[in-house]
Amino acid sequence: MSSKSEPVRHFITGGAGFIGSHLVERLVVQGDKVTVYDNLSSGHKDWIQHHIDKDGVRFIEADMLDMDSLTQAMAGHDLVWHLGANTDIPAGRLDVGLDINNCTLATHNVLEAIRAHGIKRLIFSSTSALYGDPPVLPASETAGPLRPISLYGAAKLACEALISAYCHLFGIQAWMFRFANVVGARMTHGVIGDFIAKLERNPHELEIWGDGQGQKPFFLVEDCIEGIFCAYRKTDEWCDVFNLGTTTATRIHNVAAIVIEEMGLADVDLKYTGGRRGFPGDVPELLLDASKMKLLGWQASHTSDEAVRIAARRLLGKEAGLKVG
Ligand SMILES: NC(=O)c1ccc[n+]([C@@H]2O[C@H](COP(=O)([O-])OP(=O)(O)OC[C@H]3O[C@@H](n4cnc5c(N)ncnc54)[C@H](O)[C@@H]3O)[C@@H](O)[C@H]2O)c1
Repeated sequence: MSSKSEPVRHFITGGAGFIGSHLVERLVVQGDKVTVYDNLSSGHKDWIQHHIDKDGVRFIEADMLDMDSLTQAMAGHDLVWHLGANTDIPAGRLDVGLDINNCTLATHNVLEAIRAHGIKRLIFSSTSALYGDPPVLPASETAGPLRPISLYGAAKLACEALISAYCHLFGIQAWMFRFANVVGARMTHGVIGDFIAKLERNPHELEIWGDGQGQKPFFLVEDCIEGIFCAYRKTDEWCDVFNLGTTTATRIHNVAAIVIEEMGLADVDLKYTGGRRGFPGDVPELLLDASKMKLLGWQASHTSDEAVRIAARRLLGKEAGLKVG
């Protein structure tokens, strides 16, 4: 990162995950020092292995709920990227501690460690899931009251509230990003990978949760990271929030059609489980107002349909994941 004081030593929670591992690559390219802190619950050390102990990357396998370890590990850093979280939304309904622990309590621990070391800057990966079923579409950052419909969305909203209060009370500066659906190589969750896995098991039939009519904005992981860099460099509020995603969206039945086409399949029997929602807590209709980011000069490089196709091709090994930066 160039415009704020240099050099920057980055601390990334969840840095071995899907988005985190792409971020590590991006920071390595610009020669910054990086510490990844991850318990590998959904991340993979392999994804960053080739950078560890060279390229200025240190890896600590530990849990954000381990306050001593977290506080010790964070010493000596200038900027915290807090990406670590439970990201399995349906699982949060079956194990109701998952989100409150790995999102909210973990965020409180991260904030306490930041405070202990007097670190001044925090970038937080929030989510459009905190809009719940937005009464007005596209949902903008000023929408409210916010009524999340998943424990994940609720836990992330609580994270934003904690971050806001810590910024006000303890002089921390934060950039919070409400991501749409981020897609690309190494995705471990989400509908595209789910469809591919099901079709690899049985290429004749595809079970689609819900009625397939729901629509979501999908955008590429490299756009997500560039969007964060853009807002971080160009804005200076004490605590700010940005929608990050495309303004277009893709219906779930169209995701299925794209995946089927990219897998070279035909005559696949589509079996809908029915109902508007794919699963309890799923938001069937989402469009994001990304005008705040557009004013800063950022917009997604592809439509949602194009991003779905590119991500499917990357997951299928037909196209390499693009280097960011
Ligand atoms: N991918 C998306 O579409 C999307 C959308 C909105 C928000 N987000 C947010 O972006 C961030 C990154 O998501 P992702 O898609 O890369 O998912 P991911 O599951 O690949 O990454 C999450 C990382 O956090 C780590 N982690 C989880 N709990 C931990 C704990 N208690 N201690 C230490 N590490 C822990 C996991 O091992 C994993 O590496 C998350 O905060 C997520 O909520 C992602």
